Amino acid sequence: MHAVGIVAAAGSGLRLGADMPKALVPLAGRPLVRWAVDTLIAGGVAQVVVTVPRGQRDAFAAALPPDVLIVDGGRTRTASVRAGLAAVSSSADAVLVHDAARPLTPPDVVSRVLAALAGGARAVVPVLPVVDTTVAVGPDGMITGALPREQIRRVQTPQGFHRATLVEAYRRLPARAELTDDAAVVHTAGVRVATVAGDERAAKVTVAHDLALAELIARTTGERASPQAGGSSRLRGTATEERNESGVEP
Ligand code: CTP
Ligand code: MG
Repeated sequence: MHAVGIVAAAGSGLRLGADMPKALVPLAGRPLVRWAVDTLIAGGVAQVVVTVPRGQRDAFAAALPPDVLIVDGGRTRTASVRAGLAAVSSSADAVLVHDAARPLTPPDVVSRVLAALAGGARAVVPVLPVVDTTVAVGPDGMITGALPREQIRRVQTPQGFHRATLVEAYRRLPARAELTDDAAVVHTAGVRVATVAGDERAAKVTVAHDLALAELIARTTGERASPQAGGSSRLRGTATEERNESGVEP
């Protein structure tokens, strides 16, 4: 299976508040976007397209391997992924869409997504269970009822798709639509979305606290500044995966 990765990296990172685009912020010596690209490659993706903020092509090119395709992103994540998808070769069977903001995603998560696609899923997302009690609240902040926790999952990236299915779902999506992920785009188009086990280390870096935590995790798992020097092997396989659901739910 020929799989192409799209890394959504065109956000500005307002909530992180760094003096550069969030995807260029270093974590253990490597920009977040570089971590994301390295993870996709290590997990079995053949080629990667990165969507970048306007005017930042050179800065991103300096941070990425030369064979990565760099394209201008859009005003929203949905617009950025749409732009990235337009640059994916029609010879690809599968597309994996990943957030630059999830730098410590282990390559095993990528492999599980690819395996589900190879097994016939048209769309697949990595998910984690919710450990807290979950409730619904009204606009006044008062609890309106219980939400059955066992029916709820937290959704991560990379999210994998049969390429033609994702292209068709984006074609049907209104131009200005804004959805928070790509599973929502295909689900809106009526496609069934399967799940595989995610990983706590695929957590999203949103605020400064998340970056501090990621630094700590990168350091304690022995990650190094350069993939050649350290590789991602120490991030493979943990109890987290075994605790969570494995395999595909069609
Ligand atoms: N993203 C994108 N294009 C946009 C907005 C976001 O490609 N117009 C990407 C971000 O670069 C990030 C991912 O989508 O990797 C998830 O978005 P988020 O965590 O919200 O990042 P930012 O939008 O950069 O951060 P903020 O919302 O705090 O400004
Ligand atoms: Mg954002």
